[in-house]
Amino acid sequence: MDTEITYLGKVIRVDSSTVEVEVSDDIPSAAPIINGRLYKIGQIGTFVKMPMGNITTYGIVSSVSNTPGKTDDTKLSQIVGSRFLSVQLVGEKIGDDDFEKGIGTYPTINDEVHLVIEKDLFDIYGEKDAGSIEIGKHSSSDNLSVYVDIHKLILRHCAILGSTGSGKSNTTVSILKAILNDYDGSRVILVDPHGEYASAFPDAKVLKINDTSDPLYIPFWLMNFDELAFFLVGAKPTDDQKPEHRFLRELITNYKKENFQLKSGDVNPVYITADSPIPFNVRKLWYEMNWWLNATFSDSTKDKQTKDTAKILNDDNGDPQIGNYDELKPAVFEPYPMNNTAPFKSKHIEFYSYEKKLLSRLKDSRFDFMFNPGDYKDESSLKDLHNLLNDWIGSESKLAILDLSGVPFEVLDIAIGLITRFVYDSMFWGRNESYTGKNRPILLAYEEAHSYLNKNDNNSYSKSAVERIFKEGRKFGVGALVISQRPSEISETILAQIGTLIALRLTNSGDQSIVKSSSPDNLNSLIDLLPSLRIGEAVIVGESIKIPSRIRVKLNNPRPNSEDPDLVECWSKAHEVSEENYKPVVTKIREQKL
Ligand SMILES: Nc1ncnc2c1ncn2[C@@H]1O[C@H](COP(=O)(O)OP(=O)(O)O)[C@@H](O)[C@H]1O
Ligand SMILES: [Mg+2]
Repeated sequence: MDTEITYLGKVIRVDSSTVEVEVSDDIPSAAPIINGRLYKIGQIGTFVKMPMGNITTYGIVSSVSNTPGKTDDTKLSQIVGSRFLSVQLVGEKIGDDDFEKGIGTYPTINDEVHLVIEKDLFDIYGEKDAGSIEIGKHSSSDNLSVYVDIHKLILRHCAILGSTGSGKSNTTVSILKAILNDYDGSRVILVDPHGEYASAFPDAKVLKINDTSDPLYIPFWLMNFDELAFFLVGAKPTDDQKPEHRFLRELITNYKKENFQLKSGDVNPVYITADSPIPFNVRKLWYEMNWWLNATFSDSTKDKQTKDTAKILNDDNGDPQIGNYDELKPAVFEPYPMNNTAPFKSKHIEFYSYEKKLLSRLKDSRFDFMFNPGDYKDESSLKDLHNLLNDWIGSESKLAILDLSGVPFEVLDIAIGLITRFVYDSMFWGRNESYTGKNRPILLAYEEAHSYLNKNDNNSYSKSAVERIFKEGRKFGVGALVISQRPSEISETILAQIGTLIALRLTNSGDQSIVKSSSPDNLNSLIDLLPSLRIGEAVIVGESIKIPSRIRVKLNNPRPNSEDPDLVECWSKAHEVSEENYKPVVTKIREQKL
């Protein structure tokens, strides 16, 4: 065997998962050509094999050195002169069986070590089977497709990590396209904070905040009471001692209980609480607050100040000016005199601070997707939550892109939190239905994950919702993919649950070490390659892949739209000052409306 052209040398040391190899002095070339292909001996990240009877153990070269024992020597300058390779063991192949990860039989001193040639790789990667998708080509060979097990990729969750411009978005497109093309019943929601993916998926259902034809609505009444109190009036859960907070809870609970007859089906009012996702009219809530604050009454005692004793002012035609909540028009009351005679000023002033905050929130058009959600506005609206689910996860298109590029930064977190929680709940409670839950799993993909799944943010709605998917989603058929350029900022709970890691070029050392420590296969030698990967090249490790691999992802067409403007083109044209009318810009700033 040691006369074969693939022969490299012998094992001289065995650790728990690494072996040291002394490269033979007699091998004719440091770069042999085998079957027309050039192989370089001692390339970091390449495979070697150790045949022992009918068992062949495979490993990855993790470091190269001139001196034995210096396994962590990373000076690569003298590859040709290098004589000692440190090899991380990854798996074995017994007879004609498929390659398997993990080591059952360890090599021993003096076992032969051979180069892995293309044919071996074909043996390892095998053919595409029913449960897999092609993720890219092996870096060492354009002919060699690398497949991932789709069940494990999705339901054990995965991540695509890499610096800006390393090819994350393109990789995301590749994976989603492979899924959508190969699996007719697949379904995916892509959370797209920069609105870059619609161009890459012409057949997808794209829902966009403030869009006129396909608007994305996230009805405010999906929030639980604490969330709603925070976003409507800035109240914290600890405010529950304050009377206005208790009254608010009471009012909202009552509204919800009244609205138990719903388009998605009636709900027993006994089960309805302030937290139930039941529609109500938030403008009416404001109107009520305003009414009690500003009303005047024929009686001065608080108990007797009721709707019946209120003094509404008539207009010129003699009609009472009761206002209109949908137009945010308050009721008008008879003014109270200063001398403490009737009509008397209202003593129901608990909502003094809430009323103003609520009104300004309702007038802020940036929040319309939530507080003025079109057909989902209130109990009398055309649509209910089953329509929302039909739009998001039950449409003809297998992919729904939720374009959140119009969402103000301060509500991005709650928007993604609500989307995630609602989809999760629908999978949890629908787990036994034939068309959803366990019977039709879903993938939720989160682009720019570091900006809302930040480990340092203790009050993040999206983080707790997404963490729940990572912890228990698979039981109900919910898988997640996070995409990020700052893995070091991402929630540790999420990183710890990633089953498959696809790492592109990553230059920041803090991010590299996070990837290293959360890498499911603990394969530092491959992860060490991260700063030197080319664009579109990735290291993939974890449960869904047969053997940790360095792959190339193809460039997709059509492509996602990068959010960057074309600076050179923009700056190359001379601009006419007379054409620059900034008035509409200022109006938009003032109205906060595009
Ligand atoms: N696999 C690839 N092969 C060749 N070029 C690529 C590849 N992936 C990405 N690129 C190039 O790099 C640019 C940035 O890719 P992108 O996927 O947007 O990166 P990221 O999302 O990591 O910022 C793309 O516009 C494209 O020109
Ligand atoms: Mg990107």
